[in-house]
Amino acid sequence: MNVLEASDLKVYYHTAKGVVRAVDGVDFIVEEGTSVGLAGESGCGKTTLGLSFLKLLPENGAIESGSLVFEGDDIYSLDEKTFRENIRWSQIAMIFQGAMNALNPVFKVEDQISEAIKLHSNKKKKERLQMARDLLKKVDIDPTMGRHYPHEFSGGMRQRAMIAMALACDPKLIIADEPTTALDVIVQKQLMDLLRRLKAEMNLSLIVISHDISVLAELCDYLNIMYAGRIVEWGEIEEIFENPRHHYTHGLISTFPTVEDEEKKSRFEFIPGAPPNLLDPPLGCRFHPRCPAATEICMQEPTPEMRRISEKHYVACHHPRGDLD
Ligand SMILES: Nc1ncnc2c1ncn2[C@@H]1O[C@H](COP(=O)(O)OP(=O)(O)OP(=O)(O)O)[C@@H](O)[C@H]1O
Ligand SMILES: [Mg+2]
Repeated sequence: MNVLEASDLKVYYHTAKGVVRAVDGVDFIVEEGTSVGLAGESGCGKTTLGLSFLKLLPENGAIESGSLVFEGDDIYSLDEKTFRENIRWSQIAMIFQGAMNALNPVFKVEDQISEAIKLHSNKKKKERLQMARDLLKKVDIDPTMGRHYPHEFSGGMRQRAMIAMALACDPKLIIADEPTTALDVIVQKQLMDLLRRLKAEMNLSLIVISHDISVLAELCDYLNIMYAGRIVEWGEIEEIFENPRHHYTHGLISTFPTVEDEEKKSRFEFIPGAPPNLLDPPLGCRFHPRCPAATEICMQEPTPEMRRISEKHYVACHHPRGDLD
């Protein structure tokens, strides 16, 4: 059963310079109990896609079209009140990008978690505080630390507190946006272990967003590769790593060392060229200006529909790697 299913989702930002097509026709599936990665370079639309699943876009952004189904029910057409009462936080929660730096410095951590619980329950303050302490325990923080302020927490602890907050209303699906970015390798690993454990213990489904594909390799069952507002490859994680069919995926994988090779990271070159401006993306396949295999058709014909490689592997490319011409 699929927990989440998005089809042909388009999310645009309206700006003085024009329309930014941040998500431009995306299909996305999360099977119950699985962990799905979303990778791609900065600005390709990962956060926008995550926010759209929670219908929590900035004021100038909107879902223009598409469909969004959660556990078999259409949630795209729900009005804001119904969505807020029945879906956001209680079914789908998000750990926002950079959120660990967004804890309110003037409130104790347990009070902030208690406020998150209040969103969806009418429990009394005392009971909420007990729940907050239990949640801290769940994310491996000594519950007595809840009485402290965010500045007394390390970066890793603040991120754990954010995970506790996302768990506050007992959601089924959690979207973690760059959950380990800016943390050192050891803390990264601890957080990945924690997410893996929580997923198993609480029967969660996860969407993990990261520009760092090695983090996703550790955490995910499936991987989506996003380029310039579109998903260009999707599949089971081992399959994608062993047999990447899109030239962009191949570039991403070969430029990223594993988590263990952290010190090597700075020495790696990235894929030549820069991602396109989503105000005015290139005609044809959006990757063609950077693609080693681009031909005439790639400049003229839009990125093709996702093509089936196997049951659990799809690619959108005119000349996938490994194809016989
Ligand atoms: N409020 C906004 N108004 C206009 N454009 C926006 C807005 N928010 C994001 N964008 C643009 O939308 C595109 C997608 O942004 P998004 O933040 O989703 O990318 P991302 O893949 O999460 O990047 P990163 O890896 O840096 O977090 C980018 O081109 C970005 O500049
Ligand atoms: Mg982002």
